[in-house]
Amino acid sequence: MNVLVIGSGGREHVLCWKLAQSARVDKVYCAPGNAGIKQHAECVDLPVDKLEALADFAVSHQIDFTVVGPEAPLCAGIVDLFRSRGLKIFGPTQAAARLEGSKDFAKAFMVKHHIPTAQSATFTHQIGAVEYIAKQFDRGARGVVVKADGLAAGKGVLVAYDPDSAIDFVSDCFNGAFGSSGKKILIEECLFGEEASILALTDGKTIVPLASAQDHKRAFDNDEGPNTGGMGAYSPAPVVDAAMMERIQSEILTPFLKGIQADKLDYKGIIFVGIMITDDGPKVLEFNVRFGDPEVQAVLRRFEGDLLDVMQKTVDGRLDEAELRWNDQPAVCVVLASGGYPEHYEKGFPIFGLEAAGATGAIVFHAGTAEKCGEIITAGGRVLGVTALGATITEAIDKVYEAVDLIEWDDCFCRRDIGFRALARPKK
Ligand code: AMP
Ligand code: GLY
Repeated sequence: MNVLVIGSGGREHVLCWKLAQSARVDKVYCAPGNAGIKQHAECVDLPVDKLEALADFAVSHQIDFTVVGPEAPLCAGIVDLFRSRGLKIFGPTQAAARLEGSKDFAKAFMVKHHIPTAQSATFTHQIGAVEYIAKQFDRGARGVVVKADGLAAGKGVLVAYDPDSAIDFVSDCFNGAFGSSGKKILIEECLFGEEASILALTDGKTIVPLASAQDHKRAFDNDEGPNTGGMGAYSPAPVVDAAMMERIQSEILTPFLKGIQADKLDYKGIIFVGIMITDDGPKVLEFNVRFGDPEVQAVLRRFEGDLLDVMQKTVDGRLDEAELRWNDQPAVCVVLASGGYPEHYEKGFPIFGLEAAGATGAIVFHAGTAEKCGEIITAGGRVLGVTALGATITEAIDKVYEAVDLIEWDDCFCRRDIGFRALARPKK
């Protein structure tokens, strides 16, 4: 079978790596891919927003199955387009992708289907939003969260612990900082607790969680600095023990499934639920209609089945027959980023030490890399994700940093504390 993966990040690298291992896969293509993906797939010079060109490519290259990495093409309707041309594709339709594309839509869905989440109000005018923020703090709120309604490349959310910064962010939103995405905003109750990422497969009839994971969203150690796409992850997340997983299944995943059925949202793909484990139980922070990155790098490192088989069963409505097997060993992924990320950063630096890092047994998944004159160079903010397994989380962390320390380029940085929450938990 020929498989096409759409995207160019660490997520797409791990997907290509895993799909290429399937005995039934003859060839993997990736559009547009990156310098590391070339080891497992033929990279095709097509951007992710050229939906018609991607469909033409899939037809002309006899692609049997397509997997979409990022949210933008899903929200733009790539699944509907591919299906209309008789092509099999993994992911939600455009209508269902609104669960990520519009935070207001997602919030209404959660309220309607009794899925626990932060209280929130939606505003299309600045003045009402400002009054509401002042009222929340007057009532003793310790914080509020301001969210631009539409896609904003992970930048449209501010957790504010004082009214002034919340109000400044509201004014940025209405002044076009996030384009049309910021013309409608949500102001949410600030939740406190530990976050976890639950990725679950659904074919619309069944919903099956993958192994749990935890991301590290802030740029710097001790969760300081700005929010990023994610600076590292590990799986499993001990905060999601068996009892918590049961609650997540019964309070979030099952109502989600019933909700998409009741609302006739056609969803055959992965749903990634960002969850805050609060004192009142698990609450949804956001839905994403694609694999989380870097979570997926840690999660799929532990996945032992045939990913293509599982994905095909998802698309064919036979997810109940799929077999998910996991390596018991924890996996830790550390992201290496360009100095300055998530703000301004330079690109084009040669990367050294990739082979030596790989020789430790860790796997280096590429995100923002390119090849120039036979050299691998930096080409993005998040550049690499290094992932290692270990008998314990401590061993996995030691192994991953052993590999990370062998890699360098001008202005490279990473967090040194990935996994700190798991380490801090009392040993059972
Ligand atoms: P989102 O894009 O909605 O996931 O928000 C990005 C990040 O902001 C989340 O991963 C959380 O760290 C934080 N966040 C979002 N919503 C809330 C909330 N209601 N309370 C506390 N933190 C939040
Ligand atoms: N790591 C979070 C995300 O993929 O949105």
